[in-house]
Amino acid sequence: MQEVVPVECKTRKAVPSEALKEEAAPGLRGPSEGEELIRLDNVYKIYQMGEETVHAADGVSLVIRRNEMVAIVGQSGSGKSTCMNIIGCLDVPTRGKYYLEGEDVSGMSDDQQADIRNRSLGFIFQQYNLIPKLDVLENVELPLIYKGISERERHERAKAALDRVGILSKMHNMPSQLSGGQQQRVSIARALAGDPPIILADEPTGALDSHTSQEVLGFLQRLNAEGNTIVLITHDMEVAKKAKRIVRIADGRIVEDFMTGAGSEGKERSS
Ligand SMILES: Nc1ncnc2c1ncn2[C@@H]1O[C@H](COP(=O)(O)OP(=O)(O)OP(=O)(O)O)[C@@H](O)[C@H]1O
Ligand SMILES: [Mg+2]
Repeated sequence: MQEVVPVECKTRKAVPSEALKEEAAPGLRGPSEGEELIRLDNVYKIYQMGEETVHAADGVSLVIRRNEMVAIVGQSGSGKSTCMNIIGCLDVPTRGKYYLEGEDVSGMSDDQQADIRNRSLGFIFQQYNLIPKLDVLENVELPLIYKGISERERHERAKAALDRVGILSKMHNMPSQLSGGQQQRVSIARALAGDPPIILADEPTGALDSHTSQEVLGFLQRLNAEGNTIVLITHDMEVAKKAKRIVRIADGRIVEDFMTGAGSEGKERSS
């Protein structure tokens, strides 16, 4: 499972049909206004598995602007997590550029990546990833400790985040004393506590029943309405439809990119 650093990499780019030639490429079809938070520029992630070369990302170009709510969908093995790991500064492209809030992440050291990750991103995972030995408040405070924030301010910010997701009354519970939906709300509060501009959610409803999933998606939509930019990974089209924009990946490439109309009720569409 060795990553390849190619001298020259063979691309398997799809040739756009005549009808699409005048339009922006998929991945660049979101709103045309607003500050760019995420820009993937022709990103490749290539693995060499013995004789086989795997293009986990195969020339991905994607722009996400402030206050978007974007779902990245695709079948198992299509490259969703690969893109998510790059967007989340957990991995770097084999080739191509990644800019987060205007900064070129591609050439950053591990420490610099950790810095920008702490500053700009909040993560929500399928399995919540709460620390079982810490209570709810301590779990939410954890990323603030990494940020070097004082104890007093940590308490205040963690409580405010728990309040935002309606679960402040459980702050002294242990994670095991909460339902799955409540645990996911704690993990959303943890992502929010550092006040990052971008929330990355990897299958956030994957472990929840449909009622609780709707509730958690409702929270994400509300956070988006309040100004957070949200990138949501899912294999479930029903979940994806809650986002304002859907980007579909197949074989490491963006094959579809469209606005859903979600979240625009009662608002004038700008595009
Ligand atoms: N470390 C690695 N070494 C080799 N191949 C890898 C590695 N990581 C991912 N791949 C391959 O890259 C492709 C994309 O994987 P990725 O994990 O991004 O898919 P995914 O869309 O997230 O799938 P799932 O829905 O199952 O999580 C797959 O073919 C996978 O086998
Ligand atoms: Mg995955």
